[in-house]
Amino acid sequence: MIVDERISGYLKTLEPELPDYLEELEKSAIKEEVPIIRKESQALLRFLLRMRRPARILEVGTAVGFSCMYMAEYMPKDARIATIEKVPMRLAPAKQNLKNSPQAAQIALLIGEAEEVLAALEKGDAPDNVYFPAGEKSAWRKESFSKPYEFIFLDAAKGQYMYFLPHLLALLSSDGILVTDNVLQEGSITESKFTVVRRDRTIHKRMREYLYELTHQKGLNTVVLPVGDGMSVTTRL
Ligand SMILES: C[S@@+](CC[C@H](N)C(=O)[O-])C[C@H]1O[C@@H](n2cnc3c(N)ncnc32)[C@H](O)[C@@H]1O
Repeated sequence: MIVDERISGYLKTLEPELPDYLEELEKSAIKEEVPIIRKESQALLRFLLRMRRPARILEVGTAVGFSCMYMAEYMPKDARIATIEKVPMRLAPAKQNLKNSPQAAQIALLIGEAEEVLAALEKGDAPDNVYFPAGEKSAWRKESFSKPYEFIFLDAAKGQYMYFLPHLLALLSSDGILVTDNVLQEGSITESKFTVVRRDRTIHKRMREYLYELTHQKGLNTVVLPVGDGMSVTTRL
C-alpha cells in the first residue's frame, strides 16, 4: 500500500456503489486472484471519462474484462472501447463477461500480443484477431481500429510500457488522455536498484525509464498520482 490504509479505507466509503453486474464481477475477480483495478483507480478513471467524454477508448490489458466493462459503464452512451489481451486463461472468461455487458455492442476484444496489435493499428492495418461480444450487432464493425483514440488506459505487463509508449502516442488523439496504472509499484519504485530483489530489477528500471519519459518528453504533460498503486495521467502540451 502506498497510501495510508485508513485514508484509502475512508475514501472508499465515499465511492458510490457499483451497478450489480460490476460488483459481482469485481468480487469474483478478487476471489480468483485476478489483478483488477482498485477502487481508488476506478474513481479516477470514472472522473476522467466523465470529464473528457471520449468517443473512442483503447485499453491494453483486459484480464477478465472488469476495467473494460467499468469504463464502458461510464463512457458516453455512443462511445466505443477496444481492449487488448493475449493470455488464453484470461480470454475465455473475458469473452463470457464482455458478452454480458450492457454495452457489449460498443466493445471489441483485440486478441494478441499488445506490442504487435498496437504496431498494426499504428500502421493502419486491421487487427488479425478480434472478438465482438455482440456479434453482428457490434457498433465497431463500421469503424476502423486505427483511427485516433481520445482515451487510452494502459494496464498490462509493467516491463513493456516503454515499448508500448511510441505506439500509444501515435494512436492518441491530439487532445487525448493516456492513463497508466501501477506506476509506483507498491512504492518499490522509490527504492535504489540495489535494494530491489534481483528478479524485479528489470521491471523497476523500465518503470523508472517510462515515468522519466512521460514527465520529460517534449510535448507531453504528465502528472503522477499516488492513487491505488500509482497512476499517471498524460496529455499533449
Ligand atoms: C493487471 S491485468 C489487467 C486488469 C484489467 N485492466 C482490470 O482492471 O480489470 C493485466 C493483463 O494484461 C495482460 N497482458 C500483459 N502483457 C500483455 C501483452 N504484452 N499483450 C497482451 N496482454 C498483456 C495480462 O495477461 C493480464 O490479463
